[in-house]
Amino acid sequence: MKGIKIRGTGRCVPQGVLTNQDLSQRMDTSDEWITSRTGIRRRHHCKKETLTGLSLQAAGEALRKAGVAPEKIGVCVVATVTPETLVPSTACMLQRELGLAEDTLCFDLNAACTGFLFALHTVECLLQASSRPFGLVLGAEVLSRIVNWEDRSTCILFGDGAGAVVVESREGWPSIGAVMGCVGNDRLLHVDGPGSGRPPLLSMEGQRVFKFAVEAVPRCMDQVLERHGVTADQVDFFVFHQANARIIDLVVRKYQIPAEKYYINLEEYGNTSAASIPLVLSELEEQGRIKAESRVLMVGFGGGLTWGGALVEFAEGAYGDERK
Ligand code: UT7
Repeated sequence: MKGIKIRGTGRCVPQGVLTNQDLSQRMDTSDEWITSRTGIRRRHHCKKETLTGLSLQAAGEALRKAGVAPEKIGVCVVATVTPETLVPSTACMLQRELGLAEDTLCFDLNAACTGFLFALHTVECLLQASSRPFGLVLGAEVLSRIVNWEDRSTCILFGDGAGAVVVESREGWPSIGAVMGCVGNDRLLHVDGPGSGRPPLLSMEGQRVFKFAVEAVPRCMDQVLERHGVTADQVDFFVFHQANARIIDLVVRKYQIPAEKYYINLEEYGNTSAASIPLVLSELEEQGRIKAESRVLMVGFGGGLTWGGALVEFAEGAYGDERK
């Protein structure tokens, strides 16, 4: 059996920034309410940028930092619920723009905010059967295009961005041992698709999703730790889906995770759904806080409802020369 490790990360967020102050001029809300309930202060929203463009930048950076040529990629999966086009998939456009080989398996995947972890798990499985050792995994969203600006309890939460990782698959490396699941629920978090005949606007029962998250995150963490036979203090870093700082605080307190072992960036980006975990990975790598052999436990949750967790290692020599 082969396992995967991360060799390089990349990210791209649009330039346009919407602060809580900006929002309070457009609707009945305040910086104080948003900050105290969520931890969010700003979010980046696309103006001219596109989901494909953000994805291309993030993927290019990840390939460069990994020192991996595009033609060595065997699988490319983009987790998104906001593709620029349903057909072709974002991943197909990456094939063309990055120059991936024509027999690379390229497709988009929807598991809402857990999408990146579903994609990572999928890529690990598909690389078992690939003749090439590398995979490209993205989480990318332009949620600003589907938020309902009439609903102040949700529109203040979401931002746009793309994060990417290049993984390598090798015999003898540990599997990420992903735990994933879903339970169909079309009310708690909902976005209509083209088949519904209704416009794609995001709606959410925030309090009920909050309760689900507070139960699902520790459950996933316990399952991942058990599957890998490690305790929480043997993990080098924890990366949580960035939905609400209060959810992260509750988990961190429950496991007594020290401040230097987890990271919150939703203050700057808001909730970027599938992009949130790879955006964190990319910032951590850039800051030198995740290095070769670091073991990182990631947990996500979101619409579907979906949840997932995995423990991934970073590879020796990742990020090529730029890392030194
Ligand atoms: O990534 C996908 C997963 N999603 C999540 O993890 C989201 C989880 N849920 C949450 O993060 C929180 O439930 C929210 C941040 C969405 C909402 O926070 P809350 O503490 O659950 O607030 P609430 O919806 O219970 O609303 C409390 C009050 C209400 O007023 P009344 O009825 O008490 O008078 C709302 O009308 O806050 C009001 N409110 C606002 N006030 C100012 C709702 N939105 C706003 C707002 N500004 N933007």
